[in-house]
Amino acid sequence: PQIFFITPTKFRAEQKADLTRLGQTLAHIPNLFWIIVEDADEPSEMPTKLLERLKFTSSVHIVARTPPEIRRNESDPNWKFPRGVAQRNAALEYLRTNHRSFKKSVVYFGDDDNVYDWRIFDEMRRIEKVGVWPVGIVGGTIVETPILAPNGTTVINFTSIWKPERPFPIDMAAFAVNLALIVENPTAEFSNHVPRGYQESHFLESLGLKRSDLEPKADFCTKIYVWHTRTENTKLLKRDRQRLQNPESLNLIEK
Ligand code: UGA
Ligand code: MN
Repeated sequence: PQIFFITPTKFRAEQKADLTRLGQTLAHIPNLFWIIVEDADEPSEMPTKLLERLKFTSSVHIVARTPPEIRRNESDPNWKFPRGVAQRNAALEYLRTNHRSFKKSVVYFGDDDNVYDWRIFDEMRRIEKVGVWPVGIVGGTIVETPILAPNGTTVINFTSIWKPERPFPIDMAAFAVNLALIVENPTAEFSNHVPRGYQESHFLESLGLKRSDLEPKADFCTKIYVWHTRTENTKLLKRDRQRLQNPESLNLIEK
């Protein structure tokens, strides 16, 4: 099965470094289609060149701008607004329009700053409806994992400490779904109007999924194949903060 790997990405000083690391991971994965969704009005040169340089033949580079009322100021905390909503929805639309017939494919939402072990992709290809697995360093914990029933095939709970009452108390990196589900549920999407931490639950519920549908992967959820790493927001000199605001100065960052 084909893997559609959806990455929302936003311009910042660290963006090229993060996308280079991610691209160099993904370039080794057979049968992976990378959907880069830039949070911008127009596609910029850097991701296009990266895809060329890494010789991605199965990829697309689209754009979706986060609406201004959702966009955070420099002084706002990172969690004030949800991130990646417009971008992931644009990718879902793209899939429904262009890849409807790829019924066996699986769809995964991969942030640009996480770390992915190659073995997670093997796990994804074995998903029937929705697969789930542990995620390292997330939610203030070393690992968040689904808890399995003694039969080893049913997920009965989660170790998540943060808002465990969520229908699916898991990170975006913890699951992948079959493309057919996305096609069959044309209104399933992410939303800017759900409480903090409820993106994953909202999306999975909009696909009509229940906890009992979760298929545990990664050796009965005993292995960590993805980490929710976060790239530090580098404290730039005032001069360089200003340079970053000015479109002309994008030339400073080699494309
Ligand atoms: C966590 C989850 O891992 C994300 O998948 C989820 O979207 C986010 O929380 C949330 O609750 O909204 P976190 O590390 O805090 O992730 O988020 P970021 O890595 O800052 O953003 C997620 C993705 O969206 C990144 O690939 C980033 O480049 C992109 N992004 C971020 C945008 O496209 N636009 C933005 O304004 C901000
Ligand atoms: Mn992140």
